[in-house]
Amino acid sequence: MVCCFAICRIFLKPKTGILMLNMGGPEKLEDVHDFLLRLFMDTDLMKLPVQNKLGPFIAKRRTPKIQEQYSKIGGGSPIKHWTSMQGEGMVKLLDEMSPETAPHKFYIGFRYVHPLTEEAIEEMEKDGVERAVAFTQYPQYSCSTTGSSLNAIYRYYSNRGDRPKMRWSVIDRWPTHPLLVECFAEHVSNELMKFPEEKRDDVVILFSAHSLPLAVVNRGDPYPQEVGATVQRVMERLGHCNPYRLVWQSRVGPMPWLGPQTDEVIKGLCERGKKNILLVPIAFTSDHIETLHELDIEYGQVLGEECGVENIRRAESLNGNPLFMKALADLVQSHMKSNEPCSRQLTLRCPLCTNPTCGETKAFFANQKLS
Ligand code: FES
Repeated sequence: MVCCFAICRIFLKPKTGILMLNMGGPEKLEDVHDFLLRLFMDTDLMKLPVQNKLGPFIAKRRTPKIQEQYSKIGGGSPIKHWTSMQGEGMVKLLDEMSPETAPHKFYIGFRYVHPLTEEAIEEMEKDGVERAVAFTQYPQYSCSTTGSSLNAIYRYYSNRGDRPKMRWSVIDRWPTHPLLVECFAEHVSNELMKFPEEKRDDVVILFSAHSLPLAVVNRGDPYPQEVGATVQRVMERLGHCNPYRLVWQSRVGPMPWLGPQTDEVIKGLCERGKKNILLVPIAFTSDHIETLHELDIEYGQVLGEECGVENIRRAESLNGNPLFMKALADLVQSHMKSNEPCSRQLTLRCPLCTNPTCGETKAFFANQKLS
């Protein structure tokens, strides 16, 4: 039976296409500039004065520094590798769990590198997909990340001026999915066990998520609350075994950002004698530059040494964990069964949103007819 579905997936047209959405990362050093250019030109992510001039200028100026960071983590981002592995695992499980919607095929839709979201949609249409699920790979929703990818899907159709041939729905957030929580808890426990036994109780767990400019938070973006929800569930699952904090990393530029900042917290803890620290990336599920360079090298090695930490470790990202693939398959299966085009939460714009595309995108998804 399994074999039969695997063969179907290769030779038959996919009935269900699952579009895995993420920002992506440059696979090679020569991709860094275009990655940054698309990022700084994304008006859903950031608004810059004279963006069509300033965006390319900043991208060009930052390229050498970011290339240097990527060269220290092996020359490129592993995000496509991990997303492909997760997608494979997910569709294999889905073909077994949900024969009525099989064959399933996954597609990768990145925002800033190939395969771009628009290219993936074209491939889905060419394959003759009937039912399309836009599946954000960010567990917690932000208008800067998932919102930007959904706006890209909406714009693709509105620029083309016709209606989608596929029936679309969206999995827009999953911050407290039980298997996601289980995976994070498992990775935290595994890493805690690597601390010397006599220090284990003293370890402070720092859940670290990508920060947001306060201007984004203050217009009503749901991300900080949803990241907090994940942290709460993971700590409940762990029986509140250690003290913990939610901290925020990767701030750039002169504007105020959501804090406390991960590096400042590491320093502050060390100054107060708390020198055993476990970093847990909680808002990205696969390794990327912010885990492999920022957490591991900048904080784990350089800053850790400067501050005199005793032990600083990082929980592994979910990457190729089979339980995580099960989580993804379960999310798609229950979403398809619900027959809902999106969550109720997606239908509400940020109370202080000024981007008209957000409203159009939400209406586009909420009004999809699924049956
Ligand atoms: S910025 Fe959040 S809905 Fe527009």
